[in-house]
Amino acid sequence: MKIAVIGSGGREHSICVSLKNSKDISELYCIPGNGGTSLLAKNIEIDIGDFEKIKNFIIENKIDLVVIGPEKPLVDGLTDYLEGFGIKVFGPNKKASQLEGSKIFTKKLCQKENIPTAKFGIFKNKEDSISYLKSSEFPIVIKADNIAAGKGVYISNNITEAVNAINEIFDGKFGVANNVLIEEFLEGEEMSFFIITDGITIKEFGTAQDHKRVSEGDKGKNTGGMGCYSPSRLISDDLKSKILNQIIHPTLKALKKQSITYNGFLYAGLMIKDGNPYLIEYNVRMGDPECQTILPKLKSSLAEIFFSTVNQKLNEANIEWKDKKSLCVVLCSNGYPDDYKKNIEIENLEQLKLDNNNLVFHAGTKIENYKTYAIGGRVLNFISLDDNFNIIKKNVYSNLEKLNWKNGFYRKDIGYKTQD
Ligand code: AMP
Ligand code: GLY
Repeated sequence: MKIAVIGSGGREHSICVSLKNSKDISELYCIPGNGGTSLLAKNIEIDIGDFEKIKNFIIENKIDLVVIGPEKPLVDGLTDYLEGFGIKVFGPNKKASQLEGSKIFTKKLCQKENIPTAKFGIFKNKEDSISYLKSSEFPIVIKADNIAAGKGVYISNNITEAVNAINEIFDGKFGVANNVLIEEFLEGEEMSFFIITDGITIKEFGTAQDHKRVSEGDKGKNTGGMGCYSPSRLISDDLKSKILNQIIHPTLKALKKQSITYNGFLYAGLMIKDGNPYLIEYNVRMGDPECQTILPKLKSSLAEIFFSTVNQKLNEANIEWKDKKSLCVVLCSNGYPDDYKKNIEIENLEQLKLDNNNLVFHAGTKIENYKTYAIGGRVLNFISLDDNFNIIKKNVYSNLEKLNWKNGFYRKDIGYKTQD
């Protein structure tokens, strides 16, 4: 079987590694891939926005399955486009991807189906938004409707901050804005819940808690994710059944009512308050770095899981997990999430102690003449698996210290809320 993975992050490197470990894979491609994927797949330099070139490559090389990692091509309809040429694709179609692509689509669906989420209002212009804010309590949450790579969400502590957010959104900071979403601020602790579905069967795909802010103590700017751990310390059988019955099942049923079939991973970003889940957002893909943290625990064949999903036979797939905990720390280029230098060599990678329980996935890297260079903000992901988070942290941080990359930094407190 030939598989092509679309994307270039740590998530896609970890997907490639799991696929490579699956049986019956004759060729693996990554479009465009990174330094890490070039070691086990063929990297193909095609812009992931160029659907036609991707389609031509898939057809010419007789590829059996395309796996789409990031949200942008999903939201832009790459699945629909490729399926139109008879290509099998793992990842939701354009209509289903509105769950991530339009926060307003998701909020309206929650309202209709009584799915627990923050109370909200939708406003079409600056004047109406500001007059609503004048009678609101603070903090309050203001969101642009479109995907904005983790940005476009403001937590405003007073009217001045809120008006600034409204102005930035309607002035086009995140693209043309016809609407803004204003939400009640939810208190509690966040966790992420993952499932995989073929539109008929739903199977759990792990839980995690991530650290989005750049600095220790969860302070500073928002990032794509500085690290995470799995499972979430909050998960219990009771909470799991609430998440499935109050949030996941009603969402997929509501899509079906609109004749939308969901195929792929679904990632629910939740706030847990007093043991009850509230939906903050959906992502129509695995998280990054959650994917890198969860996939090394998978015992079953990822290729088989993907093929059974696209063939609507997920009920027949075996999804077994190692009984272990895992944690990931992201090594970033100095300056991230603002400007950082590119093309800086990363030495010492060969000195790391790596095995099935201690892994490194590449994100923003390239390899040239056997040398690895950083070309992105998030550069490498360090993961360890064990029964105990304290041992995991010791192993992860010991590898980061061994690498001793002077041009980068990482948070030293990932998983600080875990006990053992
Ligand atoms: P989103 O892109 O919708 O996930 O929002 C980014 C982050 O903003 C979330 O991970 C939360 O930390 C925070 N956030 C979003 N909505 C709310 C809310 N209604 N109440 C509290 N925090 C929120
Ligand atoms: N780590 C958060 C995300 O992938 O959206």
